[in-house]
Amino acid sequence: MRVTVLDHPLVAHKLTVLRDRKTPSPVFRQLVEELVTLIAYEATREVRVEPVEVTTPVATATGTALSTPRPLVVPILRAGLGMLEGMTRLVPTAEVGFLGMARNEETLDIVTYAERLPEDLTGRQVYVLDPMLATGGTLVEAIKFLRTRGAAEVTCLCLLAAPEGLEALEAKLDDDDVHVVLAAVDEKLDEKAYIIPGLGDAGDRLYGVV
Ligand code: URA
Repeated sequence: MRVTVLDHPLVAHKLTVLRDRKTPSPVFRQLVEELVTLIAYEATREVRVEPVEVTTPVATATGTALSTPRPLVVPILRAGLGMLEGMTRLVPTAEVGFLGMARNEETLDIVTYAERLPEDLTGRQVYVLDPMLATGGTLVEAIKFLRTRGAAEVTCLCLLAAPEGLEALEAKLDDDDVHVVLAAVDEKLDEKAYIIPGLGDAGDRLYGVV
């Protein structure tokens, strides 16, 4: 597994405002989109392209186009949905699939409650959106699920991670083709599996408490 933590003053600034408990929902949403676009710039560095030729007003030029099959973006519901706009702004031709995952509070198992993805992901580059890499449980299950469908390279875009979550991913996946790109790695998890100092519950801050 590879981990890339962005080191950029704009990323640090936007993250600081996101962390602030006083930041209201509309500003929070806007900032998540902006931050994801910056993360996506780094996360798509190895997106597959092929050469194309275009005619300029005065000559021909060789350039690139995204290869087919197109990259697949998979937000994990619910909070990952808040990252989708920021990603598709940078990669507007990407396909989008959805994965709804939640923890069964009795068994603590991760259950997939919604899924809208192509049956066959053989050889596809997949970009998973999940803002908070806390215990890593959801991402581990999501990546395993994508692998069973044949996904090749999996890149996870997160806002924040706890060291415990990154360790869990490394230990449970043992997968060289997973790349995690994120804005910061925080200090630790608390006893309720919140990232400390973190930014609170990302889903609630995006969408309100339901
Ligand atoms: N999910 C969140 O939204 N926030 C955390 O701190 C941990 C998991």
